[in-house]
Amino acid sequence: MQSLFPLGRRSLLFGVHQFLWHPWTVYRAWNHLYGRPDWREVVCIFLHDWGYWFCENMDGKEGRVHPEFGAKIAAHLLGREYGDLVLYHSRYYSNLHCQIPSKLCWADKLSIVYDPKWFYLLRAKLSGEIKEYRLYEKDKQILDLTDGEWFDYLREEFLNIAEVNGRNLVSYHGEREVRKS
Ligand SMILES: [Fe+2]
Ligand SMILES: [Fe+2]
Repeated sequence: MQSLFPLGRRSLLFGVHQFLWHPWTVYRAWNHLYGRPDWREVVCIFLHDWGYWFCENMDGKEGRVHPEFGAKIAAHLLGREYGDLVLYHSRYYSNLHCQIPSKLCWADKLSIVYDPKWFYLLRAKLSGEIKEYRLYEKDKQILDLTDGEWFDYLREEFLNIAEVNGRNLVSYHGEREVRKS
């Protein structure tokens, strides 16, 4: 079961990163932060998490490099700048390679706002991801939260970092340049 359906694959099929629903929420978040994405950006939004297909975990050794697969496809189809847009959608991956997170990172974070709580938790429980997400939490106070309270906390945190960083990115580079990044 685990080898046929590793956690990352379950996430893409029916979990938090469901391959149709999650990109739709990221699209809406992108629209909110930067305006309507062009078709190349839409392709990147659609495939950015496909690397999870091969991952036995979400935040472990394999999961942490999940952006690489989608980035290769995006670079091949659309060119290097779009490869980088996908590659650096992960804060962890960006930090590891001393790069600034891409626009997609903040839209990805903000996407949780467009995900109904019950639906997010249902998917997280069905796939089993919620166990891993909550296991990696180091803060004792957060460990004691119920799943519903944990979701509220996560949404608040992601909303704040996405709004601050997404907006800063736009005002720092100027809207037109950022659109191309
Ligand atoms: Fe991702
Ligand atoms: Fe994502």
